Amino acid sequence: MTGHMPIATPFTAESTAAEVIEGIDLTGQRAIVTGGASGIGIETARALAGAGADVTLAVRNLAAGERTAGDIIAATGNKQVLVAPLDLADRASVAAFTAEWDGPLHILVNNAGVMACPEARTAEGWELQFATNHLGHFALATGLHSALAAAGGARIASVSSSAHLRSPVVFDDIHFREREYEPWAAYGQSKTANVLFAVEASRRWAGDGITVNALMPGGIRTGLQRYVTGAELDRLRAEVGATEVNWKTPEQGAATSVLVVTSPLLAGVGGRYFEDCNEAEPHQPGGRRGVAAYALDPDAAALLWQVSVDLLAS
Ligand SMILES: NC(=O)c1ccc[n+]([C@@H]2O[C@H](COP(=O)([O-])OP(=O)(O)OC[C@H]3O[C@@H](n4cnc5c(N)ncnc54)[C@H](OP(=O)(O)O)[C@@H]3O)[C@@H](O)[C@H]2O)c1
Repeated sequence: MTGHMPIATPFTAESTAAEVIEGIDLTGQRAIVTGGASGIGIETARALAGAGADVTLAVRNLAAGERTAGDIIAATGNKQVLVAPLDLADRASVAAFTAEWDGPLHILVNNAGVMACPEARTAEGWELQFATNHLGHFALATGLHSALAAAGGARIASVSSSAHLRSPVVFDDIHFREREYEPWAAYGQSKTANVLFAVEASRRWAGDGITVNALMPGGIRTGLQRYVTGAELDRLRAEVGATEVNWKTPEQGAATSVLVVTSPLLAGVGGRYFEDCNEAEPHQPGGRRGVAAYALDPDAAALLWQVSVDLLAS
């Protein structure tokens, strides 16, 4: 493992995004929140806008984006809440988004995601969860690299999940061509990729002042569970011996993302995994918390970076 002192903060699982960002002034900073028109993305964007940042909601549902932007403007009084189209599963859409972006970017929240969907593939034949959750965000962040470097001290949040404990990145068959498709294995793999991205991006981009951390937001009732039936949830709970799920509110769910991209306690810190507003401990067998060693493995992180570059160039 990493051998460093984990970052501890005064915040907890109950803390909200508003509490975490209180007293922090983001005036003059520009932020992007992917998937900012639903779930915890809305509350992440609201907190950043409330602290004075210019926020772009990068969404595929523009009508929902405009509604959300209107709500946030009305609630915060910050008129600089914009909407831009982004479909992470479509390379051309990501390329168009990054080509449109002009000027520095201080905060990137890679928040959008799809969970445990039926087997589906992009036009390239890539498995949809890996393509959306990892590859799309990889293309987005690398496409915005010079804007992030230009900000001086930019931060990226890579929204992962405790579901990363379900699977490492299976480099021999990332796209489930040889093995049978399993929705949770595919989700888990994509969420491990989100942590590995934070590890390698921090290594590569620290010299540009860019830090990248991964996080587990908590369990929050959102659109994410659209493919999960009640029976499936019961089965998953039983599997881990849980009798109940302590759902967070969306405002609590957004807190760790907001912490990672704004807290002075994380200045210069990158390549780590946070949950409940604190750096996570190493995962212990049988538990549901903590970070898997394979998700912080620098060799796997470097390999994933190269695999991602090669896939996007193919
Ligand atoms: N909620 C939880 O319990 C939980 C737990 C652990 C981790 N997370 C992570 O938290 C993040 C946010 O999830 P959430 O709970 O807020 O779920 P959500 O309400 O479903 O939000 C996910 C967002 O991602 C967007 N999205 C999906 N595919 C996309 C694509 N191809 N291109 C662009 N945007 C796309 C969705 O857009 P549409 O509305 O157009 O589909 C939606 O706005 C995800 O990364 C998720 O894995 C959530």
